[in-house]
Amino acid sequence: MTIDLQWACPVPDDLTDLQPMLERVALACFDAEGVRGAGFCVRVVDEDEIRALNRDMRGIDRPTDVLSFPTVSYPDGRTARSCPKRLAREYDPAMGCANLGDCVINLKQARRQAAEYGHSLTRELAYLTAHSAFHLMGYDHMNEEDKANMRNMEERALEAVGIAREAETPSHDRLFELACEAMQNSYSPYSHFKVGACILTADGRTFKGCNFENASYGATICAERCAAACAIAAGARRFAAIAVVGSTAVAWPCGICRQVLREFSDTGMPVIVGQYGKGYTVKTLGELLPEGLSPQDLGVDVDQ
Ligand code: THU
Repeated sequence: MTIDLQWACPVPDDLTDLQPMLERVALACFDAEGVRGAGFCVRVVDEDEIRALNRDMRGIDRPTDVLSFPTVSYPDGRTARSCPKRLAREYDPAMGCANLGDCVINLKQARRQAAEYGHSLTRELAYLTAHSAFHLMGYDHMNEEDKANMRNMEERALEAVGIAREAETPSHDRLFELACEAMQNSYSPYSHFKVGACILTADGRTFKGCNFENASYGATICAERCAAACAIAAGARRFAAIAVVGSTAVAWPCGICRQVLREFSDTGMPVIVGQYGKGYTVKTLGELLPEGLSPQDLGVDVDQ
């Protein structure tokens, strides 16, 4: 379990499906930091509880949006990635991973901030959770340099789960729709299985692709790699999401495509997979390619 989600207030109707989203955000944060086998607790509280915590733990007698309580004490200037032994000491058998601490979120304040920034409550909770995740991994924002560094890490993680800065970031629905459009151009006279894909890059662009087959069969290119090739040729290097649709069955990406996507995506990247006219499900790339080999494993940092 990556996130131990605890509700200290009634669960609102619009947030019954928060756990998978927070899991994706946490995994993207760990991935950006280069940490595996970690988790933390997210406690959603009301204003009175966070005010009491802020007063008792920090001597500030007023409510705030989020508080972070790390279990690990990081030496000066170091963060989670360079402290594997300290993380291992926090192994929590109930969670099955190292428990990095508690993230406490004020639901009422999160709602206010979501309205102020004009985005969804889920997105605000994702942002607050990412912010807290980096505190739990030793990041801080006491000076301008540290603040910019922490913000950069948060952005990277949030982009990986498809929550980019731009308000007009296409939704999963929209990406699936674009994949359906791409499917119409499929060249598949041998299998008669049309596949369409749409990749959202970290800089907010979308690239469509379709499968195109070949008389030699083996020379066939899948829709995902077609879309990836278009994105790379246009200079993109980071993928934030992909949608894939099949004409007569759910188009689960093949093994080669999963590995190709991993080159340019974090494990938290949403993979939206479905069948034409029948809707879709969302998985993370890490779920589809557990323990996959990444460029980082070979010392390559794909960044742009
Ligand atoms: N196909 C894709 O386009 N993507 C996948 O990941 C799975 C397979 C295509 C390739 C071929 O044209 C057809 O589906 C049948 O395998």
